[in-house]
Amino acid sequence: MKKQDYINAVEKLNLYAKHYYVLDDPLITDEEYDKLYHEVVAYEEENPNEILIDSPTQRVGDVISEGFTKESHLSRMWSLEDAFDNDGLQKWLEKTYKLDKNVTFYCEPKYDGASLNLIYEDGRLVRGVTRGDGSVGELITQNVKTIKSIPLTIDYFETIEIRGEVVIFKEEFERINQARLKNGEALFANPRNAAAGSLRQLDSSVTAARNLVFLPYGVGVNGLFHKNLHDKMNFIYNLGFRKPPERAVCKNIDEIDSVYKQMLHDRESYSMALDGMVIKVDEIASQIDMGYTVKVPRWAVAYKFPALEKITTVKEIVLQVGRTGAVTPVAIVEPTDIDGVVVERATLHNFDEIDRKDIRLGDKVIILRSGDVIPKIIKVLVHERDGSEIKYARPTRCPVCASELLDEGVLLKCQNLECSARVVNSIMYFASKPCLNIDGLGVKIVEALFHSGLVKSVVDLFDLTLEKLLELDGFKEKKSQNLLNALQNARGSEYWRFINALGIEHIGEVASKTISEAFGFGFVNATKEDIVSCDGIGEEMAESLLEFIRVNAQTIIKLQAILEPLEPVKREEAKENPFKGKTAVLTGTMSQSRGEIKETLENLGAKVSGSVSKKTDFLIYGEDAGSKYDKAMSLGVVCLREDEMRAKI
Ligand code: IVH
Repeated sequence: MKKQDYINAVEKLNLYAKHYYVLDDPLITDEEYDKLYHEVVAYEEENPNEILIDSPTQRVGDVISEGFTKESHLSRMWSLEDAFDNDGLQKWLEKTYKLDKNVTFYCEPKYDGASLNLIYEDGRLVRGVTRGDGSVGELITQNVKTIKSIPLTIDYFETIEIRGEVVIFKEEFERINQARLKNGEALFANPRNAAAGSLRQLDSSVTAARNLVFLPYGVGVNGLFHKNLHDKMNFIYNLGFRKPPERAVCKNIDEIDSVYKQMLHDRESYSMALDGMVIKVDEIASQIDMGYTVKVPRWAVAYKFPALEKITTVKEIVLQVGRTGAVTPVAIVEPTDIDGVVVERATLHNFDEIDRKDIRLGDKVIILRSGDVIPKIIKVLVHERDGSEIKYARPTRCPVCASELLDEGVLLKCQNLECSARVVNSIMYFASKPCLNIDGLGVKIVEALFHSGLVKSVVDLFDLTLEKLLELDGFKEKKSQNLLNALQNARGSEYWRFINALGIEHIGEVASKTISEAFGFGFVNATKEDIVSCDGIGEEMAESLLEFIRVNAQTIIKLQAILEPLEPVKREEAKENPFKGKTAVLTGTMSQSRGEIKETLENLGAKVSGSVSKKTDFLIYGEDAGSKYDKAMSLGVVCLREDEMRAKI
């Protein structure tokens, strides 16, 4: 690579990153990005004196600080006055109109994260400072540089402070917490805490791994000339920052209210958590006239959304036993209305969480409900205790069948395969949508069938007859016949549904589809080697599958005979050819889509896998082949261009 190629490559990478992280509009695949990135890394290793300050390699989080130094903001970071309802908003508007009758209002989301001040000088990001007390914050430039939606350089050369909120998208938040749950670490209470905690990490690689996002909402010191805030913000967005998902300029309270209602309505669908809408006077000259109180600007207000967090009391902790035997604790709380929904239960995740948060019966707690997720307890109000609260003792016996629980540390498990909770939940799972999708097998019916002794496992469902059902309490002719029809209709389903319905640990819908496609009815005879060679199936899954087959082979055969699932169409045995029985990996851009080439190879009897390993026989590559090509070369895998592959066929 020549110097000019390097400069062009950095520029390209920054453009791709902007499209990906700022505009949500990716231009290229990750693979193509990685390839160019590695070329840049290689050049920089050979020419360390020529590294550009805006090279994406400069974002790599490998700096460990001993602590953060204090740093003054160039101009103060303010807080916001809150309005909690329409009345509050009206009062704020009256106050504001008294100062200036002829103003309009810029409305944008109030993001729920941690505020951050970015200082750019001569077009370069020179400092990132937390809000702190508004005058002095902490210098966290190294961490800030790992945030991909913050440009390292901008096309504006005067000194400017760009302020905004650092957030964690809701999906990323769930991902982080799931990982923490698995590792037995304390969970983050909400995306705000997760964002704030991630920003102040001494090891910037931790910050980098958290996928933080920066959303600008204003400027401090600046030499911009715009008359209106909305123009000023458009200028900022155009420097390479993310736009809000929704924004508007409003003339009066009715317009403000309709934007507010819209935002409230859209709230759940946004990637980031919002806690309200911020309304700001749009005319900069009027902002300057209105000025500030000791704490807040007179020209802005936060019109809050109804809180998703409420205080309530823990009345009881009950235990649920799932189909795998895992026992999960659930808190029963004093019923509380949260944004229109009465919450009575909150998940406690697992027993470690109860210990860690020290949740006691009678405790006052903060619960959070957001989206479709189950409400959770995010904090115990320890200072509210009066001594009557009762510590919760970890159970040793299954709450349903009383058999001894296996204590795995984080998880407690009921080991009894005949435990009614396990059986009932397995049947419910068997009948659920992503499995056999049997209508009319609700929990009441399943419990009745189980407790009558008629159904002890899913196989028994198919021995039910009208006479037997009519003997049960509450089963009239119509209800019984409906149930029998529904069971009859479960026959002839797709084979992956059948596999999924078996409820094999670690084998969900996606893996069931893979297994069904790869082996068809023959999956019971697959070897471990066969299984792990499937895309997306690892050791743990393969072992779980094999163990299940070992224990349940008879049941599988019996169920399959009853349910007559459809065998996925098997390819005809391929004639002898160089690809038959071989494993191939595809990479780069080819003359046909990868799906089409995969199909061609599979018809030749090859297995097409997603990643290169020692087991790969061929790597077939097109233009812009990336890291897979490098890996294949390093492993000595035969690499064929597309035309070379075709020549062999
Ligand atoms: S403006 C000059 N706009 O809310 C006014 N703040 O409660 C200063 N925040 O510290 C703030 N979204 O961290 C403003 N669109 C938005 C915001 C926003 C979130 C945060 C910010 C501020 C806090 C005040």
